[in-house]
This record gives sequence, C-alpha cells and structure tokens, in this order.
Amino acid sequence: MLKHHGKFERHSWLMLIGIVIMISIGGFVEIVPLFRLETTIEKVEGMRPYTPLELVGYDVYIREGCYNCHSQQIRPLRDEVERYGHYSLAAESMYDHPFQWGSKRTGPDLARVGGKYSDEWHVAHFVDPKAVVPESIMPQYAFLLDQPADVRRLKNHMQALRTAGVPYTDDMIKNAKADALAQAAATPDASGLTQRYGPKVLVRDFDTGAGALGHVNGMVTEMDALIAYMQRLGTLVDFSTYNPDVATKPDTANPNTKVAP
Ligand code: HEC
Repeated sequence: MLKHHGKFERHSWLMLIGIVIMISIGGFVEIVPLFRLETTIEKVEGMRPYTPLELVGYDVYIREGCYNCHSQQIRPLRDEVERYGHYSLAAESMYDHPFQWGSKRTGPDLARVGGKYSDEWHVAHFVDPKAVVPESIMPQYAFLLDQPADVRRLKNHMQALRTAGVPYTDDMIKNAKADALAQAAATPDASGLTQRYGPKVLVRDFDTGAGALGHVNGMVTEMDALIAYMQRLGTLVDFSTYNPDVATKPDTANPNTKVAP
C-alpha cells in the first residue's frame, strides 16, 4: 500500500475516492450498531412506557420549550451525582421520542425531580416561579390551569410511538382517554390504569383542584398532565436495589449483550 502512496498524492480524483472509501468504513462502523439500539441499552427493572396522562405532560413540556432551559441527564460526575442523585441510565430515557436530554442548564436538571416537591409546590411554582423561588427567572405557566389536556389524539400518538418501538399494547391504546382521566382522579375507578401500567402509578388530582375548570365534565388540565409527568421523572428505577453488575449480565435471549469486564 505504501509504495502506491505517490499515486494517491499526485491524482486528486484517486485521493478523493480513497477518502470517500475510508470515511464510509468509519461511518459504517459507527452508525450500524445504532440500528440495533436494543443491544446497547442495558435492561433495568421498573421502566415502563408513559401513562397517557404523563404523555400529554411530556408533550406540553416539548411544546413550551422547557428543554431550552432544563436538561434531563445526570452525568456520572461527582458534583452532579451529589446534587441531583444517581447518574442517568440509558434505559431511563428509552421511551422518550424524542429524548429530552437537553443541552443547556439555565435551570436545574430535571431527570430526578419526581417526588422532590409536592404537587402544591409545583402548581405554585408554575403559576408564578418567583412566589416560591424569589430569584427565579423561569417564565410563568399559569395558563396551563385553564387549558384542558388534549386527550383526544392520544390513541394516534400512542400508535405512532408503538411504531417507534414503545411497547404499548392494544389494550393500553384502546383505553388511552379513560386512563388519562382516571390518573388525574377525574373518574372514580383507576383499577384499569394500575393494572395496565403497574401499581406504582400515581393517581390523584395533580393540579390540586386549582384549575378554573376543576373536574367539571371529567375535565383534566394541562397542569395535571405536566405535574404527572414531573412527578414520574427519575422515579421508576429503584436505586436502593439497582446493581449495575447484574444489569450488565448477559441477556440469554440476546447473544449480542456483552458482560462488563
Ligand atoms: C427561561 C428558562 C426556563 C424555562 C423556559 C423553564 N424553566 Fe424551569 N427553571 C428555570 C430556572 C432558572 C429554575 C431555578 C429557579 C426556580 O426554581 O424557579 C427553574 C426551576 C424549575 C423546576 C424546579 C427544579 C428543582 O429541582 O428545584 C422545575 C420543576 C421546572 N423548572 C420545570 C420547568 C418546566 C416544566 C418548564 C416548561 C413548562 C420550565 N421549567 C421552563 C428556568 C426555566
């Protein structure tokens, strides 16, 4: 190869073709494994897809551009782990399409904000952040209390997510609207919801009845949805029992999973 080097250096077209071949090999090696993402995300216990109500909240989060000021990824660095909690696992954002890792922290990281504050705190904070944190520069989102959560298109949305690999069952999709209302305690019976998404799903009136609409006609507000989403963040994996060594043990059904050294 080396003795042909002169040829490459003197003929620019040959050089160009050579470069394209080399870059293609590099690109191939980097990109192809990503098509088999399931082999690179280690499985952890506790992860489940968003409930319909959380999904509406997740959409509000995107619509309002919260990701411009907040990240959702705790890096494995000491200062971050001490401030925010256990570093984020790939599996924790595996059902986010698109992911909300963010790239800027004007406000704090939200990856583990679930359970950190009460619903009342969130309502007061979204209505007027300065009322709770006087030096805050976060905008007000009081209008979320007056806007009904959009539960009509949930079915289509969940179907689309299923195409992207989120394991929603037919049963989950069929009951999307009922489950959204049940989670915000707008309907009395939430047993179907907990049966589909697990007993740990939070069921309550997240906007604490503060919405102008209340729950008249089974109405659920965008505030309900956003807080349901906030309170779920980072709470699904139980880190008191999480063991990274076990999580990286080979998955017998999947020959591509490697054991960590
Ligand atoms: C202009 C930037 C900005 C935007 C946009 C923004 N925030 Fe914030 N957020 C902040 C700042 C700064 C703080 C820290 C001060 C405070 O608590 O208000 C904060 C704090 C928070 C907290 C408390 C976090 C903690 O651990 O104390 C939550 C929850 C939160 N924001 C959620 C949201 C959501 C949801 C949205 C979108 C609806 C949003 N933020 C939009 C800047 C922003």
